[in-house]
Amino acid sequence: MSSNKRYSVSRCVCHRISFEELQDEARLRKLSSCQDLIKAGLCGGSCTMCHPYIEKMLHTGETEFRPGDFHYNSDS
Ligand code: FES
Repeated sequence: MSSNKRYSVSRCVCHRISFEELQDEARLRKLSSCQDLIKAGLCGGSCTMCHPYIEKMLHTGETEFRPGDFHYNSDS
């Protein structure tokens, strides 16, 4: 495992679901926000640490992030 992979953020740890799985569910269920995914019971109702990464995932389509790399430009 490379050092980049070792420290990547790629899942909601509390709900044991990967961002890839969340992205698939979001597309399938036409959910467009982190709050939508939480209301559907898929993620994020516990510690909230994944929320900014999920928001970035929904805006960029990325499913793996470096820790702290959750900023995006919502204007683009
Ligand atoms: S990591 Fe998603 S709620 Fe804790």
